[in-house]
Amino acid sequence: MSRARRARRAARKSAQTSTREPVIQEPAASEALSAVPGAGAEEPEATRRAAGVTESSRANRGWWDRNADEYQVDHGTFLGDDRFVWCPEGLDEVEAELLGPPEELKGKDVLEIGAGAAQCSRWLTGQGARPVALDLSHRQLQHALRIGGSFPLVCADAAVLPFADDSFDLACSAYGALPFVADPRLVLREVRRVLRPGGRFVFSVTHPLRWAFPDEPGPEGLSVSASYFDRTPYVEQDDEGRAVYVEHHRTLGDRVRDVVTSGFRLVDLVEPEWPDWNSSEWGGWSPLRGHLIPGTAIFVCERD
Ligand SMILES: C[S@@+](CC[C@H](N)C(=O)[O-])C[C@H]1O[C@@H](n2cnc3c(N)ncnc32)[C@H](O)[C@@H]1O
Repeated sequence: MSRARRARRAARKSAQTSTREPVIQEPAASEALSAVPGAGAEEPEATRRAAGVTESSRANRGWWDRNADEYQVDHGTFLGDDRFVWCPEGLDEVEAELLGPPEELKGKDVLEIGAGAAQCSRWLTGQGARPVALDLSHRQLQHALRIGGSFPLVCADAAVLPFADDSFDLACSAYGALPFVADPRLVLREVRRVLRPGGRFVFSVTHPLRWAFPDEPGPEGLSVSASYFDRTPYVEQDDEGRAVYVEHHRTLGDRVRDVVTSGFRLVDLVEPEWPDWNSSEWGGWSPLRGHLIPGTAIFVCERD
């Protein structure tokens, strides 16, 4: 269902800030990988069960730390080092201008959430913006360091942002955090808090419709196999029942409600269509499915 699940399969097969120094800033000490559930575990069991805020965050931090290398190998070329790609459909910010006209980005303070290797922040730097790239996964941010750039990297959970109120003009997230958190309103409220009045938050997530279909790029991914209305999370757990990966589902109505009740105005909801030039598969995203059903939803939100 997510970009993550395919990276995971590939992996199985193969085995408050002010400085602009290129170091990873961590409010809390990083957990040793060996202490993270799932590290070195046998093949996890996939199930559907409840998973709370803390369990989801802990599981996903471990998962992304263990799978960041494969993710960047698999998707780094498609993403480019300094492009701003919103989704596997390939829509990029040059074309979409969801954060506004590029010439108006100059001098703007921008928070990128779930930045991964911070490709989007690198593009923002190129427009003269001042990005801060935040991610839960230390290993993802090490890839950001490897590629380079002179903007801050912050290792933190998007539900507890280590920034003062009114710190940013814009916030963005390309599939970062929101598909993985148990309560997206915690993230949305935090983003609203750190945005200045008039600020905009744009985020992409798996299109909610996809939850009802198998996460497969071929024809088997075209038949409904589960209820769209079943919000029970997708969980992978180790042999002691500890979650090692969690994905949360919200219906389209849930997502709209989350945005509005968190104090934002929803100004657009973009459903990128699959372009003819894109022949790449990304997990369950493929030209076959992309021409028939939406794969990504991008929410454009503003705070007054
Ligand atoms: C699918 S990747 C997207 C990365 C990047 N935006 C891109 O387009 O390649 C999801 C990212 O969200 C991060 N993430 C997951 N949960 C998070 C959370 N609660 N807070 C911050 N980042 C989180 C993961 O570590 C991962 O780097």
